[in-house]
Amino acid sequence: MEGEKIITSLLSEKRIFEPPKSVSERAWIKSMDQYKEMWEESIRNPEKFWSRFLDILEWFKKPTKIWDDSKFPPTAQWFVDGKLNASYNALDKHINSGKGDKVAIYWEGDNPTESRAITYTQLLEEVCKFGNVLLKYGLKRGDRVAIWLPMIPELVIAMLACARFGIVHSVVFAGFSAEAVKDRILDSSARMLITSDGTFRAGKKIPLKVKVHDLLEETPTIEHVIVVKRTGIDTPMKVGRDTWWYDELKDQPTECSYEEMNAEDPLFILYTSGTTGKPKGIVHTTAGYLMYAALTHKFVFDIHDDTVFFCSADIGWITGHSYIVYGPLVNGATEVMFEGVPSYPSFERYWEIIEKYKVNVFYTAPTAIRLLMKEGDALPKKHDLSSLRILGSVGEPINPEAWIWYHKVIGNERCPIVDTWWQTETGGILLTPLPGATSLKPGSVTFPFFGVKPEVLRDDGTLAAPNEGGHLVITSAWPGMLRGVWQNPQRFQKTYWAKFPGKYYSGDGAKIDEDGYIWILGRLDDVIKVSGHRIGTMEVESALVSHPAVAEAAVVPMAHKIKGQAIYAYVILNKNFSPSQELINELKQHVRKEIGPIATPEAIEFAPDLPKTRSGKIMRRILKAIVNEVDVGNITTLANPKVVKALWNAHKTAKSSSSH
Ligand code: WTA
Repeated sequence: MEGEKIITSLLSEKRIFEPPKSVSERAWIKSMDQYKEMWEESIRNPEKFWSRFLDILEWFKKPTKIWDDSKFPPTAQWFVDGKLNASYNALDKHINSGKGDKVAIYWEGDNPTESRAITYTQLLEEVCKFGNVLLKYGLKRGDRVAIWLPMIPELVIAMLACARFGIVHSVVFAGFSAEAVKDRILDSSARMLITSDGTFRAGKKIPLKVKVHDLLEETPTIEHVIVVKRTGIDTPMKVGRDTWWYDELKDQPTECSYEEMNAEDPLFILYTSGTTGKPKGIVHTTAGYLMYAALTHKFVFDIHDDTVFFCSADIGWITGHSYIVYGPLVNGATEVMFEGVPSYPSFERYWEIIEKYKVNVFYTAPTAIRLLMKEGDALPKKHDLSSLRILGSVGEPINPEAWIWYHKVIGNERCPIVDTWWQTETGGILLTPLPGATSLKPGSVTFPFFGVKPEVLRDDGTLAAPNEGGHLVITSAWPGMLRGVWQNPQRFQKTYWAKFPGKYYSGDGAKIDEDGYIWILGRLDDVIKVSGHRIGTMEVESALVSHPAVAEAAVVPMAHKIKGQAIYAYVILNKNFSPSQELINELKQHVRKEIGPIATPEAIEFAPDLPKTRSGKIMRRILKAIVNEVDVGNITTLANPKVVKALWNAHKTAKSSSSH
């Protein structure tokens, strides 16, 4: 499998790590037998299984119909006749049960001297104030609001205020460009944008609002823009359209109503990259998503009333939606929300945070682990990390070296690692160990969560043999699954349900070993995971060809020690343009502006020609092999086989000259 070649490992770790007794004893799921029994029931009798967990949510009307699979595949409906509210479940529910003074969020600023502890009562008050602002502007159930904010409490407040009235939020990662914000506003026809003057990142002020200001002239559906003052950066405000968050909130009452939502009403849209076209708006609904986010959070991270949970993801991605906003808050947990980066002011930042808040469960990405591993063991060893009980990983395959370091140096060989596989589309974790039950193999995501039935298929749709790589599909329906692509049912059908009819197609490669352990081999489609961030090659190629110098572009993933994958771009120039370092820099800047800094190509190579089939299709498989220096395989079907040799030689020369 191609993915397997990309993530090469120096270490072949064969040890099995048993769940520690200290974790099993207290865990919700204590043994493999208990897991197996529950999993089998969840597949055999979903009604019975899920009805046992209804009380993880508070309902205005408890559902009597647990699921309706008459239209599955592709869409099952969950908790069909139930009525509830996501914001009520994240806030009011806890206050009504006497937990109002419990800290919901320890917010830790980019600058370590800045922090806040926010209780459930305080969070509800802020949510109500902002909710009243939404009502003042006439926003109502079913409307869309775009949110482009950094990791500040106002982001959570804005999301939960929307959810209170059934207003569908569409959060855009603050690291995306203003162009990306514009595209998402247009696609979802959002009526309001909530943003900030800027953001702090590693001590630097980075502007936000000013970058999108002019573009908002091209988004006719936007009626109001509310701006949080975070940095004091000079910010243009259009009279009659733009107002400051603080001014809006200061006289608002701290109480507000909420809507009784239907189970299948949409809760949010989150855009994500795929193989073709522009990012697609993944739609998640209220009850199924909420149930799945809360239950996976509780069981995978073994959350109890006194647990302090720290997920280092950004809320602009699905991991932050499910495991910073909805999962932890619905479970009434205490969590850490961090504005900054792991390297500022020093590479000790995560360890300082864990020590400061006595974090019990830490959930991060392999790229961060590799980055911090490179800085050596002395830094984490300076800190008291003894509060940790469970460690988590997400976003890309974790290589055994990083796994072992995480286990040994951060977890002191005491903490199970839950390597969790899932996607924006799945709403919550699908494949994962359970910390008190599962024996771990480093690098394997082990087994499915409840309700999830995975298969690994060959191209022809037959089941792969043990240890044979193939396509990862899911054959069951689970409550957190996407309900569609925003206003694009054809794309939903084509992307997820057409390749293997009736089975959810993940786009990932996987294999299942002789003991039934699942190993993820990486994406098989044209999606690149740069530091765990999901980027479509097609988007980067479109950005490149929108520059006047570029005639054609092909983008492939390149193995990268820290980032896992990086972006390697081949570019054919238009006549009248010639290769230069300046042009490389200019093209990189251009991609940053069009998509965002995370999509910046690591390397750009000017090519005279690209390998193509006789029908003119660029063979990215061959480019990927050249860039990663593996066998290019069969090239006899190419229209221009000679180009392969030329590109090999060019790659070798470029590499040897850059290493001097
Ligand atoms: C990859 C992130 C290996 C995978 C939650 C998937 C992983 C894509 C893992 C979804 C893991 C996520 N091991 N690969 N534990 N977790 N992935 O939508 O390729 O940003 O398809 O959701 O991340 O990325 P997304």
